[in-house]
Amino acid sequence: MSTGLFLSLEGIDGAGKSSHIDALEALFRAQGRAVTRTREPGGTPLGETLRTLVLNEPMDTLSESLLVFAARREHVLQVILPALKRGDVVLCDRFTDATFAYQGAGRGFELGVLAMLERWVQADPAHADGLLQPGLTLWFDLPPEIAAERLAGARLPDKFEAQPVEFFRRVAQGYADRAAGASRFARIDADCSREQVWQQIESTLQARGLA
Ligand code: TMP
Repeated sequence: MSTGLFLSLEGIDGAGKSSHIDALEALFRAQGRAVTRTREPGGTPLGETLRTLVLNEPMDTLSESLLVFAARREHVLQVILPALKRGDVVLCDRFTDATFAYQGAGRGFELGVLAMLERWVQADPAHADGLLQPGLTLWFDLPPEIAAERLAGARLPDKFEAQPVEFFRRVAQGYADRAAGASRFARIDADCSREQVWQQIESTLQARGLA
């Protein structure tokens, strides 16, 4: 069994998850732990190339799902598993929950196919059920209308950020469905100040014996 900690951050676009990664890294480093920071889609040279395609090129949803899982396979093998074996804290900005939320709930793609791809791509004998999953997922939950306001006027939107608010309502529901009954999820109420969001993150880590 690996000794590292795999922590993912999830939420709809505009939920503010990425703005807490620096502080999370600092918190774990202050504990004397090595931290690997990474993101999806991406995290490897091939993964970053696939990210550019997924975020910018119109394509069929099966193609989109296959590309995010192809990027994930390289990411898991080249970055995440080696880091966990070393004992690192892996801070990953999005992982497979995003595929269930965006391609599954958002685009309406078959969840059964995604679950099968997940089994193949994240197969790892060292983990429970032979499946690599984050040990903790910080889920930044924010009403889609507020996320849209936060995104308005920001940088040029990518393919997903340009989607209407109804799409993000489905994505948000997709996260809620995925979180239901999965103890690795911690819901963070992202509809408050940055400081209050950080306080919730700290309390979550303390409650789980991680801070
Ligand atoms: P972000 O890095 O700014 O969060 O952007 C990544 C975008 O890619 C975001 O809109 C969600 C989307 N995405 C998917 O559609 N499927 C996936 O599996 C992942 C990891 C991300």
